[in-house]
Amino acid sequence: MRDGAFSVMILLFAGLAVPSTAQKNPVDAEGHAWWQHAVFYEIYPRSFADSNNDGIGDIPGITSKLDYLRWLGVDAIWIAPMFPSPQVDWGYDVSDYYNVNPDYGTLKDMDELFAQGKQRNIRVLLDFVLTYTSDQNKWFQEAKSSRTNPKRDWFIWHDGKSATEPPNNWTSLFGGSAWKYDSATTQWYYHYFYPPQPNFNWRNPEVEKNLFDVTRWWYKRGVAGFRLDAVDVMFVDLQLRDNPVVGTEKNAFGDPVEREIYDKNQPELHGVLQRLRRVADEYSAVLIGETWTSDIDQLKRYYGEHNDEVNMPMDFMFTTVDKLSPADFRKQIDWIDGSGEWPVYVLSNHDIRRVYDRYGDGKHNDQIAKLMASLYLTLRGTAVMYYGEELGMENNDPKRSEDVKDSRGKLGWPKDKGRDGERTPMQWNQEANAGFSAVTPWLPVDDRYKTYNVASEKQDANSILNYYRQLLSMRHTNAALLEGKYVGLNEDDPNVLCYMRSYKGENVLVVLNMSGVARTVNLNLGAKRVTTKSAKTLLSSFGAPGKVDPGKIVVEPFGAWIGETE
Ligand code: NOJ
Ligand code: CA
Repeated sequence: MRDGAFSVMILLFAGLAVPSTAQKNPVDAEGHAWWQHAVFYEIYPRSFADSNNDGIGDIPGITSKLDYLRWLGVDAIWIAPMFPSPQVDWGYDVSDYYNVNPDYGTLKDMDELFAQGKQRNIRVLLDFVLTYTSDQNKWFQEAKSSRTNPKRDWFIWHDGKSATEPPNNWTSLFGGSAWKYDSATTQWYYHYFYPPQPNFNWRNPEVEKNLFDVTRWWYKRGVAGFRLDAVDVMFVDLQLRDNPVVGTEKNAFGDPVEREIYDKNQPELHGVLQRLRRVADEYSAVLIGETWTSDIDQLKRYYGEHNDEVNMPMDFMFTTVDKLSPADFRKQIDWIDGSGEWPVYVLSNHDIRRVYDRYGDGKHNDQIAKLMASLYLTLRGTAVMYYGEELGMENNDPKRSEDVKDSRGKLGWPKDKGRDGERTPMQWNQEANAGFSAVTPWLPVDDRYKTYNVASEKQDANSILNYYRQLLSMRHTNAALLEGKYVGLNEDDPNVLCYMRSYKGENVLVVLNMSGVARTVNLNLGAKRVTTKSAKTLLSSFGAPGKVDPGKIVVEPFGAWIGETE
């Protein structure tokens, strides 16, 4: 018997991981790979921890906090772009894919982070900005130098309708035309985002080769995967047809509202993702997708027909639920869970306002933070957390236009204040600047930091932080939470979201009261052929008794109760 086959048998007998045939990634008895049971944690590097006290978070700062992340129960971090960048879009304008922004550290610091992460079993993923680049990137500088430069076609250049009129009506997400005129070569280049972010022309095979090489280089260095930025706008219509304009209203930037059928979701992007996945598989790496979609079919496509595209396309439709509505959440869960794919849940990130603000009622915000944590961390699927959510950090939006750092907020003020509010410094302790830095940080720390910080919350058994920690620990050890199928319960209840995770006769029950009134819930388990008169409390946000009757569970306002059948 070959050695490989022998070790597979040993693993099978031990009921442990067996290597998948398709790739080097081992899978468990249910066919799940490591990332399916992992908790991911997004770090905005500029705001996480400042090791050299210049007011800016950095890579050694992240490394110094790995023990905290391990303590919390995080398995993998995704770091928003830390590459050299003119910072027009805070790193999402990469001027060199093979280096580190000096504000954040050096390649040596990255190596140290990978090594320290490995020691603690925390994988490190980077952000791959593949749809566009910075206008300061040498590739674009070359392309811009003349119409005949060999790299010209790496970008999307076109003649205008006239010298003053762009090639078509497409608008940039951040306002104005999506085309910028280059007077030296008298052509326009395309940028879906800010003008200094020219889009790549992915129809050019050289672009694919060069960008795929970027991923290889980082995989060899130790990254465990990438979060793929803005993949929906990788390709545009070859004929550059105008988008239809919807109505007469203008958006926050004063532009017409368009139906983006020609500058988004072009079918070719899936071919690129499949090939990019093949490269990732060679290194047992995992791809997370920034996959904004408007329906479940679109989202399904990102997984690939044969599960051969993005491993983890994030379900942003889930983040569009803007109120505590069991019916709305049920609908979203049913879509993704019923799709047959492995769901990837996110509640907030560096582009999406914090949970505390989106769902808080001003009176029960701590309870609501625990309620929402109980939701996305007990569903079937992988969860991607955002730094500070575990503390109950809230948005700290700029008060004056002159304080705004996000270009989107500068352009959209006052209608759109930008995203600074959800990017403020991590709150480590009660000291000055929340222990983030000895000097004034690049964005202001939230005033509430004296209560909401890691050190203080660690001491408080009822804190949001300790609640998160218990949830994460449960999700790593409870078989039903790891492997169980999702079963909706009481699906007509307008106030309380209830479901069960079932695996081999074990049932974890989740009861989430989304109303401001105490509720008594009958889970009607008989209807699901579960006959039990007693359930054991595993975790609750309001001090529930150790044992409850699943026919009569009392849940406090905005309370969360998690238990298991006995
Ligand atoms: C997606 C990123 O998440 C966002 O922060 C950025 O502004 C856009 N890409 C454009 O660069
Ligand atoms: Ca620093």
